[in-house]
Amino acid sequence: MSMILTIADLKDLARRRVPKMFFDYADSGGWTESTYRANEEDFQKIKFRQRVMVDMSNRSLESTMIGEKVAMPVALAPTGMTGMQHADGEMLAAQAAEEFGVPFTLSTMSICSIEDVASVTKKPFWFQLYVLRDKDFVLSLIDRAKAAKCSALVLTLDLQILGQRHKDIRNGLSAPPRFTPKHVWQVATRPGWCIGMAGTRRRTFRNIVGHAKGVGDLTSLSSWTTEQFDPHLSWKDVAWIKERWGGKLILKGILDKEDALMAAKTGADAIIVSNHGGRQLDGAPSSIEVLEEIADAVGDTIEVHMDGGIRSGQDVLKALCLGAKGTYIGRPFLYGLGALGKEGVTKALEIIRKEMDITLALCGKRLVTDMGKDQLRR
Ligand code: GLV
Repeated sequence: MSMILTIADLKDLARRRVPKMFFDYADSGGWTESTYRANEEDFQKIKFRQRVMVDMSNRSLESTMIGEKVAMPVALAPTGMTGMQHADGEMLAAQAAEEFGVPFTLSTMSICSIEDVASVTKKPFWFQLYVLRDKDFVLSLIDRAKAAKCSALVLTLDLQILGQRHKDIRNGLSAPPRFTPKHVWQVATRPGWCIGMAGTRRRTFRNIVGHAKGVGDLTSLSSWTTEQFDPHLSWKDVAWIKERWGGKLILKGILDKEDALMAAKTGADAIIVSNHGGRQLDGAPSSIEVLEEIADAVGDTIEVHMDGGIRSGQDVLKALCLGAKGTYIGRPFLYGLGALGKEGVTKALEIIRKEMDITLALCGKRLVTDMGKDQLRR
């Protein structure tokens, strides 16, 4: 554990501990993966201004996201099938986030259910909603999130159909895994993972199974989305979702300033500048590339968050400098989870915190909330 110094170290360990089909599910993008790569690569082009001889004592990474106090402005992103990276993955990640003081966002496509996560946490978490064709079921999901005292609803706008990720097709991804020689081999070569999975009953999409009526094959993600997700979703749907929910609403998946302006008009509390981790429209720009123009376009009409490509605390700070009030990490915490369970999620957060703190100091700032465009070389 002591030699794990970077998110890349956690990724290497996760690769050795998680069955290939689930590791690849996290580590994949749409088609050629060019947008997935650009999300990470474009951060490297941004440079900080190094400042010296400023008092750097009493530094603080504390901030707020949608009015909630956060130990650092880094939430855990909603990620599908997290409970397949490690047994009870969503419950463990939520606990790690709670202890650390950052928001945890549970995906609709999670393995552990809203109720499972609520049963092991004390503070409110956030719930990410996919709009399915069965509206009664969507309403019931919203009501379940309310009953679990979730403090924000994150509505995903960019996945009415699933982008094609070649690795998932080649791997025959399903949850739980199928019983073919290839799948048995992938699982059998990861004994720690198997022991964890044998010890839990949470092995399928528990927000859905046993709750939604007439659901067919849930195991395959692509057939699941084709069958269940509503391709008609449009801006007018935000109103009824917002009304039924009645709490803080975050709109996820904005990559264009026209859409950002539409989102701001809905009265939502925040947008997430996001290309779904490069998993949907391959060939779209990286999130960090469009962040500044979107933040400038909406001004202070709506809070701006971003995700996509963050692999270090430095990346978080760059996003804050370019106009994000908050950020999200998906793969970094999944790698931590796959590598070391709950401890690995905490480790991912610690790595990012330390990188943020040192970078902040070397940029000559004491408060993370003071990071702005003038902190970058341009
Ligand atoms: C689901 O959100 C996915 O990107 O697979």
